[in-house]
Amino acid sequence: MKIIVCENYEELSKKGAELIGAEVKKNPDAVLGLATGNSPIGIYRCLVEAYQKGELDFSRVQTYNLDEYLPIDPADKNSYCAFMHEHLWDKVNLKAEHCHIPAGNIAPEEAPAVCAAYDKAIEAAGGIDLQLLGIGQNGHIGFNEPAETLLTGTHAVKLTDSTLKVNGQLFENPDDMPRHAVTMGLGAIFAAKKVLLIANGKNKHAAIKGMLDDGVTTALPASLLKLHPDLTVLCDKEAYHG
Ligand code: F6R
Repeated sequence: MKIIVCENYEELSKKGAELIGAEVKKNPDAVLGLATGNSPIGIYRCLVEAYQKGELDFSRVQTYNLDEYLPIDPADKNSYCAFMHEHLWDKVNLKAEHCHIPAGNIAPEEAPAVCAAYDKAIEAAGGIDLQLLGIGQNGHIGFNEPAETLLTGTHAVKLTDSTLKVNGQLFENPDDMPRHAVTMGLGAIFAAKKVLLIANGKNKHAAIKGMLDDGVTTALPASLLKLHPDLTVLCDKEAYHG
């Protein structure tokens, strides 16, 4: 595991974009696993800037997002699909058919087949070359929430009270927040050749400290990442030192 501690969010964002950009330059057909949320916004801004300067070409890159709320319409401004359009997909030369995100507008009974198809599509693409992850204040990765057992495949999940409280703040009316999500499981994340976990701000310190302390536990899903052979933890001073 490699730990990089940055001075601030700006430096973290530049460094994260450099690492992702290097992957794309090395392999123009790279398959990127992407995250939403506040943490990666700066990285996406830096990637867009690099694209605008002609430094990066995404025309052959494929992207698979980690998760989506359930139920939610992709056109809903709170959807992770809308987030990706706003921050990356529509701002670089990614092909629409190369941008993937779990479907949030499905009936519960459709979930198993839709989730299995998502995993098959990732496998058919050759697996993920670089997986970008944020970390929840409760240590979740994707929406793999703390639990006794974690699942390997993409699946529907009931969000924890902690996640509802944190993410509910982003909805005009927190009661409108979907109570469920679809998330990639630990299987596709662990099969990624490289994992880049990012964290910024004091409110991530407990999760980062818990994750980096000795030991792995499904009660803090990010701690399992220490078992990945190519993990980089990129955080700012506040997330690292508190
Ligand atoms: C989002 C995702 C989540 C977030 C996590 C941190 O696609 O998978 O695990 O990475 O909730 O969110 P922020 O970055 O908003 O603190």
